[in-house]
Amino acid sequence: MDPKLLPLLTCPRHAETTLTVKRIDRVVDGMIETGQLRCDQCGTVYPIADGILDLIGWRLPTSVAQLVNELPLAAWAYERTWRPIALQLLSGEPFPLEREVGLIANLVGVEQEGLLIDVGCSNGLYARGLAQARRQRDVRGYVVGIDLSLAMLREARQRSRRERLPISYIRASAQALPFAAGAAQGLVMGGTLNEIGDIPAALREWQRLLAQQGRGVMMSLVAAESGPGRAFQQLLGSGGLQFPTLAELNSAFATAGLRLRAQWQYGVVAFSLVQRAIEH
Ligand SMILES: C[S@@+](CC[C@H](N)C(=O)[O-])C[C@H]1O[C@@H](n2cnc3c(N)ncnc32)[C@H](O)[C@@H]1O
Repeated sequence: MDPKLLPLLTCPRHAETTLTVKRIDRVVDGMIETGQLRCDQCGTVYPIADGILDLIGWRLPTSVAQLVNELPLAAWAYERTWRPIALQLLSGEPFPLEREVGLIANLVGVEQEGLLIDVGCSNGLYARGLAQARRQRDVRGYVVGIDLSLAMLREARQRSRRERLPISYIRASAQALPFAAGAAQGLVMGGTLNEIGDIPAALREWQRLLAQQGRGVMMSLVAAESGPGRAFQQLLGSGGLQFPTLAELNSAFATAGLRLRAQWQYGVVAFSLVQRAIEH
């Protein structure tokens, strides 16, 4: 956890209340390893352990997908097995990670300073891509990875530490992001919308957090058109995944107050670029 990020962090229950430092016990390479933050509004104390700020605490997974994401083996295997081949299989064309991450970094505008957040980051693939792109261009700012799963965040942190990338990881819900309105220059999301639960609430958080000229870039999966594809997605639906059609996705953006600026579709994979439609 980058200590310079602290003035930007708010309570997930009181979005306009900045968290205060209760104690910092250990700092390694300029990052807080262990400590506690506090909300002066509700008195809740949030721990930082192994460099990860936990704003969730104990909770039961609400779907099979969430349960699997909590397993250390799943977190370990995610970027080693499924992720490198995922877009090639889902789009039906060559789609290496470099192409995907390059697309995300260009669309979100890494050359702009400020806060970039990878929402539902899993192993931190997009967060690392953004931090690397900024390092190459010598751009200042913060990159944050957010996820519900502690196992995923631990794996993400190990990966970014190996690459010496100063990414801060926070265990939080996409429906209650711990930042004030207009705090984010960029928001990115890779595949998470399909298992996020309450999609309207998550998109309202994008609308709240994005700065006026900020950009939101999302890779998500839309409803398949073929019979077998639809049947498979229906099966995954019982595990907590949802696959809106492109029209439903775009209607959800509009309802949340997000303006669609550009969109590309490859098979069931959609990349969407959105901005705030309404002023703060
Ligand atoms: C498909 S994976 C994300 C993959 C990652 N973005 C990437 O590009 O490699 C979905 C992740 O979202 C997380 N997640 C699901 N629902 C969430 C929620 N409501 N808030 C925050 N994270 C969530 C899961 O724990 C899981 O790690």
